[in-house]
Amino acid sequence: MYVCVCKAITDTQIREAAQGGARTLKDLRRDLGVTRDCGRCASCAHECLREAHGQMGKPAKALRKAA
Ligand code: FES
Repeated sequence: MYVCVCKAITDTQIREAAQGGARTLKDLRRDLGVTRDCGRCASCAHECLREAHGQMGKPAKALRKAA
């Protein structure tokens, strides 16, 4: 499913990024471009990252609000 519509990023891509070492939403932004346009995908992308880390046995870092 699409998580970030603006950049056409899917949950599969986020899981792959997590397996590749992405730990934070900032990592996803850098690696995939999520949240770079409208930003509406931030909470969903973070949840997807958190679930991916849960499946890998690693906790994701807490979501921080951008200033
Ligand atoms: S939906 Fe991700 S930046 Fe717009």
